[in-house]
Amino acid sequence: MSLTILIIGASLGCGHSALVTALQDGHTCIALLRYPSKVDDLSKRYPSTLIVREGNAHNLEDVKGALVHQGRLVDRVSTSIGLRPTGMSLRLADPEVCAKGMRTLIAALKEVRTQGIQGRPLICALSTTGISRSGVRDYPVLLYPLYHWGLAEAHADKRNMEQTLADSGERFVIVRPSLLVDTDRPENDDKVRMGIDDAKTAEYEKMEVGYTISRGAVGRFITTRVLEKDGKSYEGKALALTW
Ligand SMILES: NC(=O)c1ccc[n+]([C@@H]2O[C@H](COP(=O)([O-])OP(=O)(O)OC[C@H]3O[C@@H](n4cnc5c(N)ncnc54)[C@H](OP(=O)(O)O)[C@@H]3O)[C@@H](O)[C@H]2O)c1
Repeated sequence: MSLTILIIGASLGCGHSALVTALQDGHTCIALLRYPSKVDDLSKRYPSTLIVREGNAHNLEDVKGALVHQGRLVDRVSTSIGLRPTGMSLRLADPEVCAKGMRTLIAALKEVRTQGIQGRPLICALSTTGISRSGVRDYPVLLYPLYHWGLAEAHADKRNMEQTLADSGERFVIVRPSLLVDTDRPENDDKVRMGIDDAKTAEYEKMEVGYTISRGAVGRFITTRVLEKDGKSYEGKALALTW
């Protein structure tokens, strides 16, 4: 079945991989981008199925506009926005980048529905390992200093984002990758390990611990295992991904 998918954060990394996979699989994709020229190559390759909308994930009107296609809400939303730290510090230019994005998305969905536009898209939100409320450590003990101190600010942002989504009443799946690398190994996609945590009750159902996974593998997982499957058995869960 061909879906209509809004991808927020599609210019780079995991979101870009999710976009490429969705286009290859024949879906209609709306990419909300601050800099549309970043996907010029894809626009040329998929002129009828890639719709590029210039906008900011923190701007309510931009998000509302991107959520509606042919008078209906899109079928799925993938959001994987984030900032890469610059320089030696792991601090971010905007320590609330993800939480703000999620608040905007949830508010946009509510406003669009008050205008009589129907639909209940499944939302796939990209988060991180290291923030399970179950108390389970879903990352290797050697990474404790990095996760506990170095990434504390980024992790607080992801926790807030997850909480906003879990409290929203929307249909969702959270994907929590281990450390992201650019070296891709598509041939290993069937070896990706997945832990399962209930995002509402914080009960850990299955634990998997590992160091890294590629942005490419995460994006392909988002499209083929979450968006195309409608979340199904994973709805309401947080999935920890690692090689
Ligand atoms: N680094 C790690 O090891 C690690 C581990 C686990 C989870 N994560 C998290 O996973 C997520 C994805 O990581 P990634 O490396 O794939 O991301 P990335 O390559 O840095 O891409 C981030 C995307 O977010 C977009 N973006 C940021 N702010 C935006 C805004 N206000 N409006 C619209 N788009 C915006 C960027 O667009 P522009 O082109 O406009 O900048 C870019 O497309 C991040 O939240 C990251 O923190 C990272």
